[in-house]
Amino acid sequence: MAPKKLYIKTYGCQMNVYDSERMAEAMGGEGYETTARPEDADMILLNTCHIREKAAEKVYSELGRYKGLKADKPDLKIGVAGCVAQAEGAEIMRRQPMVDLVVGPQSYHRLPDLLARTHNGAKALDTEFPEEDKFDHLTARPKAKRGPTAFLTVQEGCDKFCAFCVVPYTRGAEVSRPADRVLAEARDLVERGVREITLLGQNVNAYHGHDGGLAGLIRALDKIDGLARIRFTTSHPNDMDEALIAAHGDCDKLMPYLHLPVQAGSDKILKRMNRSHTADDYLRLIERLRAARPDLHLSGDFIVGFPEETEEDFQATMDLIAAVEYGSAFSFKYSERPGTPAAERPQVPEDEKDDRLQRLQALLTTQQRRLQDAMVGRDVHVLFEKPGRMPGQMVGKSEYLHAVHVESDAFAPGDIARIRIDSSGPNSLKGVVAPL
Ligand code: SAH
Ligand code: SF4
Ligand code: F3S
Repeated sequence: MAPKKLYIKTYGCQMNVYDSERMAEAMGGEGYETTARPEDADMILLNTCHIREKAAEKVYSELGRYKGLKADKPDLKIGVAGCVAQAEGAEIMRRQPMVDLVVGPQSYHRLPDLLARTHNGAKALDTEFPEEDKFDHLTARPKAKRGPTAFLTVQEGCDKFCAFCVVPYTRGAEVSRPADRVLAEARDLVERGVREITLLGQNVNAYHGHDGGLAGLIRALDKIDGLARIRFTTSHPNDMDEALIAAHGDCDKLMPYLHLPVQAGSDKILKRMNRSHTADDYLRLIERLRAARPDLHLSGDFIVGFPEETEEDFQATMDLIAAVEYGSAFSFKYSERPGTPAAERPQVPEDEKDDRLQRLQALLTTQQRRLQDAMVGRDVHVLFEKPGRMPGQMVGKSEYLHAVHVESDAFAPGDIARIRIDSSGPNSLKGVVAPL
C-alpha cells in the first residue's frame, strides 16, 4: 500500500518546530510520510500559536483554504495542534466543522489514537495535561541523517504568569525533562550529523533536570564528542543563575549569543507586567554576563503599548535599549489575549502603538546593523549549513548567529572554518577563508 501523506504547517516558536518534527516521526510509525503539498495530503495538521491575536486568527484563514480539498477528498483528515488547540479546544470545531481532531501541546503522543477515533466522521479532542511525558511516548527518531543544526526541547511550560502572556495557560506548568533522556537524544542527533544543538524551553534556564540546572546540563553536553556548539533559548532574567553566567565564560561549546527578553524598560510597566525584576536588575545582569564573556551578543523581546504605557515609559524602554546594544531583537505591539490580566486594563490606542513600534524598531535596526558592521575585518568561526543562492557559495552561521556567505567549494554542510569577514550586507556578512 502506498504510504499515506501528512502535511504539517508550523506557526509560532521553535518549540512548535521541534514538536512538529516529533509528530511527523510519530506519524511515520503509523505509515505516514510528510509532504510539502497540502493538496497531496491524507492528513493536514496545523501546529498553531496563540501568542498574539494575529497568530491565532491565521489558523482560521488557513483552515478556510482547505475547504475545497476536503470537499474533493472526504477522507482527508484535518487536525489542529499547538497553543490555539489548547486555548480554544472544541470551539475550533464549532467555528470550522471540517476539523476532525484537536490536540493540545502536551498530548501529541496520543495523536495516532486520536486519529483512529476520527473514523466514520467522528471528532476527537484531547487538551489534557497528562502526568506522563509526551516525549517518552513519541517513537524514537529514525536513524536518518540530519542537517548540522537541531532543536532539542528540554523544558516546557511556564510558572511566571506575565500579565500579557497566554503561555502559562497553553503550555502548563514548568516541567523539565530528565537529563539522561536529553543526553541520549543529543548523542543520537550527533551520530546523525548534528553539530549544533539549541536547547529549547519556554523558560529554558529554569531547567532543573540535571544537577546544577541548565549549566550542569550544558557542561554534560560539552563532553559529547562531535558536538561543536550549544545554544539555548528562551531565558528569563530571574533564572539566570551564577553557574549559567559562569558557563558563558568557560564553556567552549556554549556560543556567545544570548536571547534574554526584558519586554520593557520602565519599572512601572515591568511591575504591571508581573516581570518581578526592574530595568536596573536587568542591566546589572547584562554587566555580569559581559564580565564573564565580553563579546556576548544579546538579543531581546520587546512589547510596546502595554496597557497604561505612557510616552515616558516608552522612553525608558528606548533608554534601556540604548544602554544594552542588542545584536538582534524581536518587538511586538501589545495584543490583548483573552483570559490574561492585562486584557482587562485601559488600552493604549492603536496609532500610538504603531508609532512606538516604528521608533523602537528603527533604534534596534541601527544597533543591529552597527554590531554586524563591526564584524568586518574580524575572524569568526562559521558552521556551514547549506549552499548559498549563488553557485559556488556556502552559507552558515557565526558564533554570534550572523549569517555568513563564503564563496568557496571547499566546504560541505557541517564543516566549521575560520572566516575573515570582508563585508556586511543588509541581513548577512560575507567573508573569505582566514589565512593561518
Ligand atoms: N518565554 C519567553 C517568550 C514567550 S513568547 C519569554 O519569557 O521570554 C515570545 C514573546 O512574545 C515574548 O517575549 C513577548 O515579547 C511576546 N508576547 C507575548 N505575549 C504577547 C502579547 N500579548 N502581545 C504582544 N507580544 C507578546
Ligand atoms: Fe510568557 Fe512571561 Fe512565561 Fe515568557 S516568562 S512564557 S513571557 S509568562
Ligand atoms: Fe506560540 Fe505557543 Fe510558542 S503560543 S510562541 S506556539 S508556546
